[in-house]
Amino acid sequence: MSNIKSFRFNTKVNIKRKCNENTTDKDILCYRYYHELKELCYICQIDAFSNKQNSFIENQDGFIYEINNIFYFIINKGKEMEEITTFLEEHTKTVFNDFKNEEWCELQNNGLDVEHYNDISKQQYYLLKYFPAYFTEYYNAYSVLLKNATNKNFNILSIGCGSGIDYYSLEHYKRVSKKELNYTYLGIDMIEWNYEHPDMPFLMSKVSDLNEKTFVDIDVIVFPKILTELSNDEMNELAEKILNGNTSKELYFINSYITSDATDNTTIKGIDKFEIICKKLQENNYTLADDKCNTYHYLKNQKGLSNTHSFFNYPDEIIDVIKELPTNCSKFDNSIEKCQQCNISFYPILTGKYLAYQISKFVQNDN
Ligand SMILES: C[S@@+](CC[C@H](N)C(=O)[O-])C[C@H]1O[C@@H](n2cnc3c(N)ncnc32)[C@H](O)[C@@H]1O
Repeated sequence: MSNIKSFRFNTKVNIKRKCNENTTDKDILCYRYYHELKELCYICQIDAFSNKQNSFIENQDGFIYEINNIFYFIINKGKEMEEITTFLEEHTKTVFNDFKNEEWCELQNNGLDVEHYNDISKQQYYLLKYFPAYFTEYYNAYSVLLKNATNKNFNILSIGCGSGIDYYSLEHYKRVSKKELNYTYLGIDMIEWNYEHPDMPFLMSKVSDLNEKTFVDIDVIVFPKILTELSNDEMNELAEKILNGNTSKELYFINSYITSDATDNTTIKGIDKFEIICKKLQENNYTLADDKCNTYHYLKNQKGLSNTHSFFNYPDEIIDVIKELPTNCSKFDNSIEKCQQCNISFYPILTGKYLAYQISKFVQNDN
């Protein structure tokens, strides 16, 4: 054991001294594991310290081991991040346990749209597929927006909030950031979903039924995966209501788009809908801070979201069952005719490939 050296490190320790300057940067491969079945940790193997590895480690807390000139490091995941992991796991399990007891064999793959969101098994299917990934995207978007925010009140309107995935992200971001963030939030949807955050302020309304007053003091308008479901007419009307109602000097939009490949801008769906509002505001006394209506963010690392977000996890035992759904479907209950024709087949989103969002800032010009 004499050839094992252990170094405790945290954000204050300068480990650059151990850096091998000749090593080129490369990805760091880490595995998650539960230390003594309790504490969630990462173990990563590195052969030397490149600059990239240094900057990665500098923001962590954990131990480095050197065994026969090979370095291993174990990162203790922060308590705050672990709480998000636990939340995501528990929320997914709650939905899954209900899903198992529903007549899911009646589900068909088609029809995840506004005509079907009232159906609870469709909601479960949607949430099992998207909740953890979309939570991660909204967490990113809110952290980018609110990173530099201090002592400011944000009034946030989330249009098409569904079960409020973005509200869950916002509340977790607030807890983790430990900043004094003051905001109001109102989720709007024409359907009241199950599995809502119990404290989420909610207004049941169609977009076309909103009036100008809804937008008076609003600082942030969120479109969480709804834009493809709104018509050009609805977007034009919405733009008019924002223009006539809004009084805020600065107005932000968080637009979350549906895409089949975020690296390919031709697959970003709904951006043309936002352009309608974007152009109308610019024609009417608003300046767009980054001068383009169609820019968006996506994760450069398109591998698993657990590579880029230490909190991300999807329970393996649920994936194992979901994988088998197409096979088990027809066996579920042969006496139900619909089950015999069942074609349910889906897989949860676990990578950054399907995540694309935009943050736009408008400033109202002085008259
Ligand atoms: C794809 S879901 C997105 C749900 C959730 N925001 C998310 O991030 O997963 C679109 C949501 O927009 C709502 N929606 C669609 N058209 C609407 C309209 N005209 N008025 C109000 N809500 C609408 C649907 O009911 C649904 O909840």
